[in-house]
Amino acid sequence: MMSAHTAHRKLEGRVVIATHNAGKLREMKELLAPYGIAAVSAGELGLAEPDETGTTFLANAEIKARAAADVSGLPSFADDSGLCVDALGGDPGIYSARWAKETGDFPSAMGRITDMLSERGAIEPAQRRAHFVSALAICWPDGHLETFEGKVFGFIDKPRGEKGFGYDPFFQPDGHELTFGEMSSEEKHGIPADGSQALSHRARAFQMLAGKCLG
Ligand code: IMP
Repeated sequence: MMSAHTAHRKLEGRVVIATHNAGKLREMKELLAPYGIAAVSAGELGLAEPDETGTTFLANAEIKARAAADVSGLPSFADDSGLCVDALGGDPGIYSARWAKETGDFPSAMGRITDMLSERGAIEPAQRRAHFVSALAICWPDGHLETFEGKVFGFIDKPRGEKGFGYDPFFQPDGHELTFGEMSSEEKHGIPADGSQALSHRARAFQMLAGKCLG
């Protein structure tokens, strides 16, 4: 999604990655690396995690980026993301991290989702459609904001693979035989050399961001 602002601003120098999630931090650093942007994490700066009171991925990404920019005085980059399962009315959605906290861990949260699908008679891949969403926000200390959103569609399968993080093991993107949990980081990002569309929700949002705010 395009930023609401028509004049895009270039990201230069040092940036805060406003996340305490190790998996996201690794992926965001990997995506920024080719652009020569030095990144420091919210954890490294000892920044507190703001309450995610928004009702959309974009609103929560903005809350995190704005809070980090206000406290650090540096441009701050945040991701709010999650998994939306069609047969569950889009759940867990913006509550993806919360579901894992409630059930104890991600394997239990994946088990809960799989059980809920089975209870609803959703057995076939076509009945288990799902997508990941990543909303990225960059906020500058003067309040300037840029936001972008990427999605990847696929279905819920039996968990496979030890790579990635979160809900990766049971999500198989359309057109692929492997789950995100079986893919290397490069395969999951899936950024083609010819500039065509990347694979993961985060890399897709990042491609839009890079086109406007980097390079
Ligand atoms: P939040 O954006 O910090 O509210 O948390 C998003 C949650 O969604 C993470 O804790 C993960 O559980 C899940 N999630 C987001 N992106 C991914 C991904 O790329 N792979 C697997 N799980 C993800």
